[in-house]
Amino acid sequence: MSDAPARAAARYRVLPGGGVAGTFTVPGDKSISHRALMLGAIATGDTRIGGFLAGEDCLSTLGALTALGVRIERPSDTEVLVHGVGMEGLAAPTAPLDMGNAGTAMRLFTGLLAPQKFNSTLIGDASLMRRPMQRVVVPLAMMGAQIRTHDGRPPVEIRGTPHLRAIHYSLPVASAQVKSAVLLAGLAAAGRTRLTEPAPSRDHTERMLAAFGVALEREGRSIALEGGQRLTATQVAVPADFSSAAFFIVAACLAGAAGVTLTNVGVNPTRTGLLELLRRMGADIRVHERAVGGAPGAEPVADLEIRQSPLHGITVHESEVPLSIDEFPAFFVAAACASGETLVRGALELRVKESDRLAAMADGLATLGVENQLLPDGLWLRGAEGLGGGTIDSRGDHRIAMAFAVAALKASAPIEILDVANVATSFPGFVGLARAAGLRIEAL
Ligand code: S3P
Repeated sequence: MSDAPARAAARYRVLPGGGVAGTFTVPGDKSISHRALMLGAIATGDTRIGGFLAGEDCLSTLGALTALGVRIERPSDTEVLVHGVGMEGLAAPTAPLDMGNAGTAMRLFTGLLAPQKFNSTLIGDASLMRRPMQRVVVPLAMMGAQIRTHDGRPPVEIRGTPHLRAIHYSLPVASAQVKSAVLLAGLAAAGRTRLTEPAPSRDHTERMLAAFGVALEREGRSIALEGGQRLTATQVAVPADFSSAAFFIVAACLAGAAGVTLTNVGVNPTRTGLLELLRRMGADIRVHERAVGGAPGAEPVADLEIRQSPLHGITVHESEVPLSIDEFPAFFVAAACASGETLVRGALELRVKESDRLAAMADGLATLGVENQLLPDGLWLRGAEGLGGGTIDSRGDHRIAMAFAVAALKASAPIEILDVANVATSFPGFVGLARAAGLRIEAL
């Protein structure tokens, strides 16, 4: 990518101390925005999306769908109108589809494109080209899909195979991306596809399929759907992204004496594990649920009210990891500022996110003077009274960059965070919102 050096040079400088206060709304949910575009594209009729996340990841999905012949209008930044082409309406792309930094896009598109009558190739940025794709290729190959990778990593070369067969598959890891890829392929397969998860993962795909009129059976950790079903266009109201709210939730726990309110946040219980972890640490968080109506697939939404309180370290168990999978960078910052020790195990998945998040957090926290030990599948750390300052390498990972910006609230010297351009993948406007909340952050 030609602008790669310029992107890598982008950095934040955050002055130490200060506090956060006020009422804010973070941008729309990334996972739900990706899905709304994809399901809208293969539905019959026009799907209107409100609250869409206009971040780079979702724009990669939008661009790919456009390249697949779907007409998509954007009446405003956060409103999208998808003119659905139906289950058989996608057209062959003329070039490889660039997923940018978006792992969700690459994995879900693999499931969506495997049963098409044309071939396609998926590529991404340097980080995405290193991420494991075998986890989606294995079940899709069992369905008869023909997919080639480079040692399990992108590029993902898909030879379209319109006659996939349904499978019964037990996921070896709790992964909403794998689950979603198989469900999307299952829609086009002959027979009934059944999946079983080892632990619950985010269920946005299941909810949204229901909203588009797909009959789906859920029983315990199993999900089943019959192939050949049609999707009917609908309206999707995307709530604010809990994973983006997480940075302000932690900021408020650490330095929000006057209180912070985050409005219209998606509080799907498969996403909000962080609330439970923080409460166990002593956090003062109130959840005011909003009425969302009983439409099929509706996502629960709430206003969150958070006030600073003393935190203490905890032990996080493997079963708790999937429900807060993207929140660990923010969580580790909270733990670093809590009294006592914190231990997270069973979090191997954090090593294959946009960066190796266990290593990135261990290194960054050590720079700030936090005693910690990197474990093969987790991290141990001892909370510190105050943090030091220093230079942190975010490794091009949006959530690592934002977590260390929050850490500055408890630092004694400035924190400089390198390689932050990818914050725009999930949280456009982060710096402006963080400044409005009280962080003394500037983008350099
Ligand atoms: C996502 C699922 C999670 C998460 C990612 C978004 C999704 O990944 O980490 O940021 O939208 O389905 P896994 O399903 O691989 O755990």
